[in-house]
Amino acid sequence: MGVLTVPDLRNKKIDTLLTDYPFAETFLVNNGIDPEKFRDSSMEDYFRQLDPEHMEDHAIDPDHLLTQFADFVNQMLSFLGEDNKIVESITILPGHDKSGNPENFTEFVIRKNEIVSIVGPTGSGKSRLLGDIEWAAQNDTPTGRSILINKKTPDKKWRYSSSEKLVAQLSQNMNFVMDLSVFEFLELHAESRMITDRETVIKRIIKEANNLAGEKFDPDTPITALSGGQSRALMIADTAILSRSPIILIDEIENAGIDRKKALKLLLAEEKIVLMATHDPVLALMGNRRIVIKNGGIDKVIETTEEEKEILSEIEELDRKVQNMREKLRNGEKLTSE
Ligand SMILES: Nc1ncnc2c1ncn2[C@@H]1O[C@H](COP(=O)(O)OP(=O)(O)O)[C@@H](O)[C@H]1O
Ligand SMILES: [Mg+2]
Repeated sequence: MGVLTVPDLRNKKIDTLLTDYPFAETFLVNNGIDPEKFRDSSMEDYFRQLDPEHMEDHAIDPDHLLTQFADFVNQMLSFLGEDNKIVESITILPGHDKSGNPENFTEFVIRKNEIVSIVGPTGSGKSRLLGDIEWAAQNDTPTGRSILINKKTPDKKWRYSSSEKLVAQLSQNMNFVMDLSVFEFLELHAESRMITDRETVIKRIIKEANNLAGEKFDPDTPITALSGGQSRALMIADTAILSRSPIILIDEIENAGIDRKKALKLLLAEEKIVLMATHDPVLALMGNRRIVIKNGGIDKVIETTEEEKEILSEIEELDRKVQNMREKLRNGEKLTSE
């Protein structure tokens, strides 16, 4: 779903239009088009079957109406933040490190469908970099960096829009204070995102979350009863499926109890850009590139090499072994060395 143009609009079935732009129904009705009756027709078909005399009497001008309709839809998309969805790239322009030394690069561009990891010691400035991106810094944060979206200075309006943000932030603390079931929680969420077919979407989220978490839960489980792994899985599935934000930032999310590979795959499914700060070697190497932060500045950018990808499989193998041992210990079993 992108910006609607008049030629698009002319030939799209009314049914498709309403699926893509549910809020457009009132506009059609107000202009005499019964959406039920013309479900399988396009706007063009609709105008064609009108009596020319009737059109004249009611001053119906198809071209004018189509233009108005496209304008209305595009304004609504912009209002709902849907136009943010079209993010082709993020560009980081250099600032300075904690000592005030300029960062040594001209620009760093991240394109959609890319995973970039951020590594560096604790306190070095990883979260700060994510914060710069979330805020679309314009030389107005401690680092002096600026962020471009699609190579342009982004509109500041979305900084304040809570409904449809450009950026979805996955962070460590998910405070479930409300006394709700998983289903009710997701329903609230889906409602605030103006999802029409809630039931289907909620079921999908629960299915995907269960696919990520080791232990299964069901729609009636109270959210306060979820384990750490389960709530992280739920949060990831929720973000991947419900959030329309094209940029996903992950800040050192603890990965115990979730399938990291599946989680990233799920997050990347819808043409997103993923940036994650991590100390986990598996996650760090899953990125196509990794940003190395030192003393608050971007020190260098390393492309994941073929050799590293091979090493990644070894680490994953080791990791499985450790997980396995952890599980055994937890279950009160003894470890044996085979
Ligand atoms: N370039 C910078 N200039 C000034 N302060 C910075 C810079 N980068 C980071 N900081 C500050 O340093 C502190 C630690 O950074 P943080 O991003 O939390 O580190 P990390 O996430 O790597 O542990 C924060 O207070 C942050 O605002
Ligand atoms: Mg941090």
